[in-house]
Amino acid sequence: MVPRLRCPVDLLELADDGGAALSCSGGHRYLKDGAIVDLQPGAEAPGFGRLRAATYDLTFDLVNTRLLFGATPRHLAALHRQAAAAAAGGVLLDVACGTGRWAIPELSRAAGTMYVGVDPAMPMLRLAQDRARRAGVDALLLHSDADRLPLADASVAAAVLSLGLQYVPDHGAALAELRRVLTPGGLLCCVAPALGLRPRYDQRHHRRVRKDHPIDRERWPALLCAAGFGGSEIETVGALVFTQARAAA
Ligand SMILES: C[S@@+](CC[C@H](N)C(=O)[O-])C[C@H]1O[C@@H](n2cnc3c(N)ncnc32)[C@H](O)[C@@H]1O
Ligand SMILES: [Zn+2]
Repeated sequence: MVPRLRCPVDLLELADDGGAALSCSGGHRYLKDGAIVDLQPGAEAPGFGRLRAATYDLTFDLVNTRLLFGATPRHLAALHRQAAAAAAGGVLLDVACGTGRWAIPELSRAAGTMYVGVDPAMPMLRLAQDRARRAGVDALLLHSDADRLPLADASVAAAVLSLGLQYVPDHGAALAELRRVLTPGGLLCCVAPALGLRPRYDQRHHRRVRKDHPIDRERWPALLCAAGFGGSEIETVGALVFTQARAAA
């Protein structure tokens, strides 16, 4: 089940032109390279170049997940498992998908679910593409941003946003985009760091020159509500806030 895509410039529907590109009736054309569609040619995510991508899977669990955030890989795997189960037979959208290391393995056990990963870092998308190929998972990888999802309204059954929101300055805009592309009742599984929960993360945040955008734990439930999510379940582990919420009908 391939989701409907829309042009990031004029929001018109994108169609496969039968070759190596997707185009809209407004004359915009986006190249495909295998499963990757380049919707923002030339743009890259700062800090996620080739070297970081190549070492990401090896270093992230120990350095970031455990020491910095105070969580375990098990917590991240469980969140993705829930999203994959909710998407069964439809589309699982993974925003800030990185190398797809948590969601893709879940889908290798769930035939019929399509994986759609969105990320502004091409080197990360290439690794996600290789991982999906090895796992035999049907995948589409979109070079784009969280606050500009190139997907049609109500086109995905479940979405996951894992450790990506801290790179997005406007959390409300990203949540509104997720709400727009989820079908009513669709599940959002999100995990992001917040300040005030773990001194190690707070200290690093205050030392950094180029700051992340951690979520505000106090205002988070109201932000979800304002973006059109209901029935939120929120749990804190170390510096991380795990959320499951449903797109309102
Ligand atoms: C820490 S990694 C998390 C990857 C994956 N979700 C995981 O849990 O392993 C953060 C990812 O967010 C991506 N990213 C950075 N800015 C972004 C944005 N504005 N929109 C979407 N993704 C972004 C980076 O390229 C990177 O792949
Ligand atoms: Zn267009």
